[in-house]
Amino acid sequence: MRVVVLASGRGSNFAALAEAQRRGELPISLCALLSDKRTAPALLLAENAGVAAIAIAPREFPDRASFDRALFARVAEFEPDLVVLAGYMRVIDPHVIAPWRGKVINIHPSLLPKYPGLHTHARALAAGDAAHGASVHFVTAELDGGPVIAQVELPVHAGDTPESLAARLLHLEHRLLVASVGLIAHARVKLGARSVEFDGRELDAPLRLQADGMLA
Ligand code: GRF
Repeated sequence: MRVVVLASGRGSNFAALAEAQRRGELPISLCALLSDKRTAPALLLAENAGVAAIAIAPREFPDRASFDRALFARVAEFEPDLVVLAGYMRVIDPHVIAPWRGKVINIHPSLLPKYPGLHTHARALAAGDAAHGASVHFVTAELDGGPVIAQVELPVHAGDTPESLAARLLHLEHRLLVASVGLIAHARVKLGARSVEFDGRELDAPLRLQADGMLA
């Protein structure tokens, strides 16, 4: 399965995919990493992994839609089967994303539908939530609103800060993303007409990451 990753920053989720692929645990070919930030550390990680690393600057385009058209034209050149948004911090124009239905996934640090958007850890803490987590979902025009494939949950500890929560969650995010991409690569998960399908059946709740790293 040919995979293109979009990332705006650190790139630890990209690195998790690259590492799993290198270990032979993920039957994917990482074709390219594209970023809207020239200085994104993710670009260096991609270069070091031998993956094409491309930066495209939004300010060189008159508006969001023309940037997104140019970005996805570059993405299309790599003929990906799957596009992974891994810390990609821009909303994608609905007209640009529409033809990619079922081919783009995003990892989001909350138990969606809770806390779409930014500052998810702080919002979970402010709400007094006992549990927090992350979700991998198919991308639709609605921000962080597409059908959820899988989630991982972790308990909130007394004294947690947004930073401590984010750090504990990040390790689990990596496992969640690798496991989700694995199920798509093995054609066990896809976006059906109405919802996510797992082994040919419509999911009525997201898959959950188990202690053994599998999704069930
Ligand atoms: C992750 O927390 C991801 O869930 C969110 O942005 C962060 C990206 O981290 N969308 P990294 O760049 O993959 O290290």
